[in-house]
Amino acid sequence: MSKYFAEPFKIKMVEPIRVLTREEREEKIKAANYNLFGLDSDDVYIDLLTDSGTGAMSSEQWSGVMKGDEAYSGSRSYKNLINSAKDIFAYEYIQPVHQGRAAEKVVMPLLLGPGKYAISNMHFDTTRAHVEIAGARAIDCVVPEALDTVSYSPFKGNMDIPRLKELIKEYGKENIGVIIITVTNNSAGGQPVSIENIRQTAEVARENGITVYIDAARFAENSYFIKMREKGYADKSIKEIAREMFSYADVFTMSAKKDAIINMGGLIGVKNDGEFFESVKANTIPFEGFISYGGLSGRDLEAMAIGLQEGVDINFLRYRIGQMEYLADKLEKEGIPFQSPVGGHAVFLDAKKLLPHIPYYEFPGHTLAVELYKEAGIRSVDIGSYMMGNNPDTGEQIESEFEFTRLAVPRRVYTQSHLDVIVEALIAIKKRADEITGYRITWEPKILRHFTAKLEPIKK
Ligand code: F0G
Repeated sequence: MSKYFAEPFKIKMVEPIRVLTREEREEKIKAANYNLFGLDSDDVYIDLLTDSGTGAMSSEQWSGVMKGDEAYSGSRSYKNLINSAKDIFAYEYIQPVHQGRAAEKVVMPLLLGPGKYAISNMHFDTTRAHVEIAGARAIDCVVPEALDTVSYSPFKGNMDIPRLKELIKEYGKENIGVIIITVTNNSAGGQPVSIENIRQTAEVARENGITVYIDAARFAENSYFIKMREKGYADKSIKEIAREMFSYADVFTMSAKKDAIINMGGLIGVKNDGEFFESVKANTIPFEGFISYGGLSGRDLEAMAIGLQEGVDINFLRYRIGQMEYLADKLEKEGIPFQSPVGGHAVFLDAKKLLPHIPYYEFPGHTLAVELYKEAGIRSVDIGSYMMGNNPDTGEQIESEFEFTRLAVPRRVYTQSHLDVIVEALIAIKKRADEITGYRITWEPKILRHFTAKLEPIKK
């Protein structure tokens, strides 16, 4: 049993939350057509919908906000951000943008076009969307261990190197525009990628003349896992590990709403290709604004400069990943299945195992998410067949490899007692699991349906 690593901070400002009664929650979720995105956040007790942009900024960051330099050009806050980012990533060129997908919008068309392919250990939804908007196709290539939620494997987020080589042969190296390494691998359960795997992926890319791109949203959490689990890294600092990770890539995009602990912001990094960076700037100006602010206020740049450094603090990461491990230990003791070992930003409950009587087309991951809300006012999200949607060619429901319910934990927001509430709710749900029925969709839009679809419970 791992010991809870106490919060390495004290709380100066609080935001009240309220608990509705079970009857009130039943009414609210019905009125939201059983879609968790339709709930008012005021009606949620513990919000685990995402860890993105939901973290609590520190007193240092808030004082940085007050010092933000709002100049259109040559802002002091811009310089502070560039210095902070260069210190961590050791890249020559850094460009701020307003969030991760904005960075993808700027960079993808420079690497991809019709007839091209992007190969990734797993594309996040928006990354995939920008690959496709650029006219290319996205191929996922994660190691097979990721699909087995029970067996232990330290780096379930890794790229499947033999398959990567085969894919390059099959599609032709001239057609692979980019190889994307997502750290941590969000869609596989927040699973880390090892340095060795990043190095091998980069070697394969170099042999074939392909650009290596890191999707860096959770690079600090990934570095922490490397420190804890990879041979030879125990004595290295998080920054040293991060710098080595990024040294194998040519370019990165980053949603800074996660590991830089800010509410809005993103980054693009280019290691040393000045010509490529000129193209990045040329796209940034019309899409995001002038290069010295990139869609952000001076105060946001300042908060990001500080947050980047706080995000790689070893005590913060020990507490942060410790929260997931605390949850995981308790769930394991209670026999509640999840993607194991636990990931960096979330616990991915295995709804397929907890609700085996609910078929994929009645959405076990979504069903469990609704139950958690009804049971204790906890908001989570389906990462499974409900999110996957329908095959665009046949209109048939896609069967997802996983039926996960993701409990994403915001940074520095909830305490150990909140985590206990989550575990208690799951224990109660497990006891009555076989009485729980699935859902059917009564209305859905054509794309990204999970945000707005309407559902109803199936009565048995
Ligand atoms: N890449 C990864 C791996 C992500 O997890 C996200 C966002 C993005 C890119 C896009 O960044 O939101 O700043 O535009 N993930 C959030 C989530 C939304 O809930 O996992 P963004």
